[in-house]
Amino acid sequence: MQKKTVLITGANKSIGFETGRQLGRLGYLIWLGSRDEARGADAARSLAVEGIDVRSVSIDVTDDMSVRDAVARVESEGGRLDVLINNAGIPGQMVPPSQQSVDDVRNIYETNVLGPVRVTQAFLPLLRNAGHANIVMVSSGLGSLGWLSDPNSQFYGVNFLGYNSSKSALNAVTLAFAKELVGSGIKVNAADPGYTATDFNGHSGYRTVEQAASGIVWLATLDENGPSGGFYFDGVSVPW
Ligand SMILES: NC(=O)c1ccc[n+]([C@@H]2O[C@H](COP(=O)([O-])OP(=O)(O)OC[C@H]3O[C@@H](n4cnc5c(N)ncnc54)[C@H](OP(=O)(O)O)[C@@H]3O)[C@@H](O)[C@H]2O)c1
Repeated sequence: MQKKTVLITGANKSIGFETGRQLGRLGYLIWLGSRDEARGADAARSLAVEGIDVRSVSIDVTDDMSVRDAVARVESEGGRLDVLINNAGIPGQMVPPSQQSVDDVRNIYETNVLGPVRVTQAFLPLLRNAGHANIVMVSSGLGSLGWLSDPNSQFYGVNFLGYNSSKSALNAVTLAFAKELVGSGIKVNAADPGYTATDFNGHSGYRTVEQAASGIVWLATLDENGPSGGFYFDGVSVPW
């Protein structure tokens, strides 16, 4: 039987990299996505020495041509994809809403919202070829309008206009694809990895990348009976 395959965007480091490692240990063939070819190749080498079946693929989620080339590469080596993980993301400026430049908000949306839309649309034919497939959108608790509007939530005071609203939009994108794909065998869910120590936040997060990746891996490995159109933290449903 052909090995299951997964493509992870922004997998040259941090949460995406660790997700590749965990899925690699489960026997998946890893397409390690990186916008920088050299960083991707280095990261793939370090997984390969652990015995993981990994290939580096260049993919900048903001660039149509780059995404098209990545699809062609995966298509030429197997022709199907079992799992897509839209992990690449950027924080943008961490300033009060009134001070954030519109250009910065636009940049964040290009990567965090339009990136996953572009990549998902482009890989859908290969995901359909798999018969049963999973798409995971790596969102954030800061995208939860339920938590952001709850004065008792730890996220209530974290008021970043561009980043937070980009993840709320990504959650809406998750639902939209999930609804269209009902009955297709493709599940689409969003994961909140939690506040995790990575370059993203100067390593101030209190969770490890191992903890962050495990909830993503759970969604990536759902079987045919698993949920679709949900938002989860460590396997537990959280408010939109
Ligand atoms: N860390 C947290 O506390 C936390 C909490 C909630 C949600 N998240 C989400 O989890 C995901 C991963 O975060 P992280 O903490 O692992 O961040 P990170 O350490 O900053 O890594 C981000 C990854 O995304 C890549 N990337 C950025 N823009 C890209 C683009 N245009 N095309 C392709 N790749 C791109 C980066 O590539 P380069 O190396 O080339 O820059 C890097 O590989 C993000 O979506 C983030 O929003 C993180």
